Amino acid sequence: MNRPRSWRLDSPAQTLIFASRDGTETPECLYWGAPLPVGEDLDALAQMQRRAAPRSLLDRYAPLSICPEERRGWLGRPGFTGTDLEGRTLLPRFSISDAEQSSEALTFRLECAETGLKLVQTLEVFADTDMVMASACLEAGEPGLRLNWLGACAFPVADRVDRIVDFTGRWLGEFQAQETPWNVGVHVRESREGRTGHAHFPGMMLPAKGAGNTSGDVYALHLGWSGGHRGFAEELPDGRRQVQMGAFLRPGEVILSADGSYATPPLFATFSTEGANGVMAAFHRHARKHVVRFPTPDRPRPVHYNCWEAIYFDHDIKTLKDIATKAAALGAERFVLDDGWFRGRTDDTAGLGDWVLDRGKYPEGLGPLIDHIEDLGMSFGLWVEPEMINADSELYRAHPDWVLGGMAEGQLSGRHQYLLDLTRPEVSAHLFSRIDALLREYRIDYLKWDHNRPLIAGTARQTQAFYALVDRLRKTHASLEIESCASGGGRIDFGVLSHTHRIWLSDSNDALERLRMQSEAALFLPPEIIGSHVGPRVCHTSGRVLPMAFRAWTAATRHMGFEMDPRELTEEEAGTLARITAWWKANRDWTFAGRLHRLDSLDDAVIAEMTVSVGKERFVLFVGQTAASARSSTRPVRLTGLNPDARYRLRLINQEDIRPNLSRDFKPPYLSDGGPVLSGAALIGAGIHLPPALPAIMWVVEGEMLNS
Ligand code: DGJ
Repeated sequence: MNRPRSWRLDSPAQTLIFASRDGTETPECLYWGAPLPVGEDLDALAQMQRRAAPRSLLDRYAPLSICPEERRGWLGRPGFTGTDLEGRTLLPRFSISDAEQSSEALTFRLECAETGLKLVQTLEVFADTDMVMASACLEAGEPGLRLNWLGACAFPVADRVDRIVDFTGRWLGEFQAQETPWNVGVHVRESREGRTGHAHFPGMMLPAKGAGNTSGDVYALHLGWSGGHRGFAEELPDGRRQVQMGAFLRPGEVILSADGSYATPPLFATFSTEGANGVMAAFHRHARKHVVRFPTPDRPRPVHYNCWEAIYFDHDIKTLKDIATKAAALGAERFVLDDGWFRGRTDDTAGLGDWVLDRGKYPEGLGPLIDHIEDLGMSFGLWVEPEMINADSELYRAHPDWVLGGMAEGQLSGRHQYLLDLTRPEVSAHLFSRIDALLREYRIDYLKWDHNRPLIAGTARQTQAFYALVDRLRKTHASLEIESCASGGGRIDFGVLSHTHRIWLSDSNDALERLRMQSEAALFLPPEIIGSHVGPRVCHTSGRVLPMAFRAWTAATRHMGFEMDPRELTEEEAGTLARITAWWKANRDWTFAGRLHRLDSLDDAVIAEMTVSVGKERFVLFVGQTAASARSSTRPVRLTGLNPDARYRLRLINQEDIRPNLSRDFKPPYLSDGGPVLSGAALIGAGIHLPPALPAIMWVVEGEMLNS
């Protein structure tokens, strides 16, 4: 009998212990939680974490290993399923052939003598972000492999975790959190639409009982992949729980010859004792340091103007110049020309695939418009949707066979369009040459890259080909920034973000809807990459009319932009928007370097968050009133993340939104000279009351630490 072996991975806020019962058997994660001291006896800890096998089951308790194996008696969902090329089920029993450990990574090489399969499990740990990145690579052996499932790594779920929080959503209503209590059985989340999908963000929060935004133990996982995906949380009848995530693979999609291999997308995992804000901070740090790579990191995020909801397909150069002039006066720094600029694109039924300018709309090319935009001090961005094709296009007429799945096979259209098969080298090469030509001809510093329909039977290879196309363009045009849009938030994940720089969270510019979505999406995504635009006065997707201040402050909590026709603005609205935009510009650098905290609101009608600067010397608090409160008096907003011993001076910066008629005796201390001063401890412990608010008012409070 070999001796047990154990390994540990540490980042400042977490320790993970992996152990193999006999030193060769596939390791299992036996501890994942708060940091353990150096010198902890890992073998003893592993012993103490093992459960006794129930008498009614197998005599040997199957480990919940990093790739749970049926062959070892695992009765839940396995980490791998597949057959050989003859269709015989493969039931591997891996053993460790090598384990490499460094302070940054743990790599297990596993082999199964009977099936010939080899599995390389990598667990990278990032001390600077508190993130673990897990991925698995499977090498087929003789006689080849048909792969059905490979999890990136099976993680155990602590018994004290009492619910699964994950996200669904829809067009105009992305990032809807849903809670599921643990029960015996499998809770599956799956996108079969070949892209991340509005309805299936591939992420999960696992809070321990009592945990909230600001306190308690929370685990979180997120799959960095923009294709179809599957994640599941399973509780076995014996009480053990696991989570796995990986790419969704259709039977027959991955067929490997003896020397072939398949690697899973990366799975990001983190733990914090500081509530959801703790894991959120880890995702933000990780996105900032290791995922999103801005071509010029020091360039402040520019205020966007996007013309979609102003003109739709109705492009007229004179109108666009007028709009650009007004947008620049409001503070815009980048003008994005949306859909409708290319040949045949008079509505959404035609033109996709023909990435050449519509000379009817732009007789002298885009040059005069770009010159005008640049003269106003803005840069120029362009909308594209390269993966798509309309049947009514020159490209389709020339290459009907380029359609993914083949039109002859009766592909269904979505928004009147079809997918191009990017896995065909000539298709990707053609798209590269068209977009590259545009980028060479015009000064374009930004592409809004759209993807407006689900795939039918989409494959992982199509997703890889999309990444490769984007990378090739970025490599050729080093200063290019790209936004990932898919009818709003249909392709948001760390996979796409490692190739792009901004996401369009939703096609809803309704600030009330946005505030909720932005708050949920923030759990995984840092504010500076979430586009948020001030839309038209009458919201095109909800019909609501919301005050300009509320719309502007909501956009000002993320990467700010405008999307209305600025010619519709009253003088007062324009003044409000310009003022708030100026505030955003003055504060974007420190807020986007700082730490965002979601606050546990005591009032269901209130969504609150705050950003604290790196040195905790300043903060800004946003408290959004989304509806009328259930109770007649306000509830305190308790702050977080401050230095408890420091004293902060508070300033309510939008006092003009106070409605004196909502209270007879509200004497806002914010109006006193200089503003009130309270300790961080008081702001955290007692919180503060804000003036009574009508729905659609956002209070904005700035705090500044006093010297001593
Ligand atoms: C869907 C996007 O989400 C919108 O913002 C806009 O770009 C349209 N597509 C254009 O067709």
